Amino acid sequence: MKILMVCLGNICRSPLAEGIMRDIIEKEELDWAVDSAGTSGWHVGEKPHEGSISIARKNGIDITHQRSRKFSFSDFSDFDLIIPMDASNKRDLASLAQNDGDLRKIRMIMDFVYPGQNIDIPDPYYDGSFGRVFDMLQIACQTIHDSNK
Ligand code: 4NP
Repeated sequence: MKILMVCLGNICRSPLAEGIMRDIIEKEELDWAVDSAGTSGWHVGEKPHEGSISIARKNGIDITHQRSRKFSFSDFSDFDLIIPMDASNKRDLASLAQNDGDLRKIRMIMDFVYPGQNIDIPDPYYDGSFGRVFDMLQIACQTIHDSNK
């Protein structure tokens, strides 16, 4: 299973989702891969936001090696699951899809926990809610693991 976590800037939410998912993959010794990307190129090459680094560190996860990159068309063929953090990221990804196969790979992260309820991960870049975001992502990543193992 190859999973790509996607948000807007790839500095707050999707780097945390990547770090949490990687932690589960390593602990469970799964043959899975995870990466993350942003729909915008605004922060390309930057480290995750200090708030994301800090909440990850508090939970024993190091995400300081990650660098922001922009989503690219080749990600549709390189990954099995493309997981946006909110409805706006999902719309942006869907507009880049070139066929039904691409579209079928896109599923919002909280949809794994609460299917059909269209729950967004709030953006801590604007409201500082890194703790709440970490908790939501941890539940979602655990559910992704449980439903695909
Ligand atoms: P992210 O948060 O999509 O969770 O990485 C944001 C990061 C940067 C900006 C917006 C959201 N920005 O406007 O630069």
